[in-house]
Amino acid sequence: MQIISTVADMQALAHELRSQDLITGLVPTMGALHEGHLALVRLAAERADKVIVSIFVNPTQFAPNEDFTKYPRELEADVAKCEAAGADYVFAPPPDEIYPKGYSTYLTEERIAKPLEGVSRPTHFRGVTTVVAKLFNICRPDLAVFGQKDAQQVAVIQKMVTDLNFPVDVVVAPTLREPDGLAMSSRNRYLTNTQRTEALALSQALFKARDMVAAGERRSDRLIAEATHILSQHRRVRVIYVALVDRHTMEPMREVEPGRSLIAIAAWVDEVRLIDNIVL
Ligand code: PAF
Repeated sequence: MQIISTVADMQALAHELRSQDLITGLVPTMGALHEGHLALVRLAAERADKVIVSIFVNPTQFAPNEDFTKYPRELEADVAKCEAAGADYVFAPPPDEIYPKGYSTYLTEERIAKPLEGVSRPTHFRGVTTVVAKLFNICRPDLAVFGQKDAQQVAVIQKMVTDLNFPVDVVVAPTLREPDGLAMSSRNRYLTNTQRTEALALSQALFKARDMVAAGERRSDRLIAEATHILSQHRRVRVIYVALVDRHTMEPMREVEPGRSLIAIAAWVDEVRLIDNIVL
């Protein structure tokens, strides 16, 4: 396992892998790796000859009032996990490698990034697309693996790849859940035991919607009302949105179209902001 920390070294390695005709897979992460991330690494290892995991807590996707400084950083443990999961390289640059002094170029996707997360986090996806485009240019992967847990991020990145002709295959891995249903997330570690129990409301609301659809319900208003009702029964949970949208465009849908619709939830559990979704 090799750890690379400069852009120049990573670009040289990417060039070397290309010249050997090796298929390269990239798993972009912000570290604090959990089983959900490691499933992405394993999937990349199945599909690619060489796997790069990037570990970079990207400052541009956090608003000033968000958890950038408190976001967990544990490189040594992360590297060991990457190695065990089958990664070949960890690219872990310091912030000024990615954003040197005077940096001033940003990339925005202007449609899919606007609703849902974009309403309460208006600069978030600009940071994500900027850093992912940079990682694609630096690591030059043939494929990149992202988790369905961040459904809007997946849709935005797929659009960026199409619109800007990045020669990268975007692979989407299913959300991994704890046995009780909680979607795995680096932010779950912020939760106290009581908050964690309350956080189960998100997956419970989504599973209820899924069960209603299995029983024949198609109307989004009814599904949203039921999911919102479940969330409202939890004292510490404050809903940011519950929406039924097209999984590719994030536009609202009146009726479920199986395989195309997604029900997405964002909610505060006290001061911890969580998101989750399920494809219906
Ligand atoms: O999903 C994440 O962890 C981040 O948004 C990503 C894709 C690594 C970009 O910083």
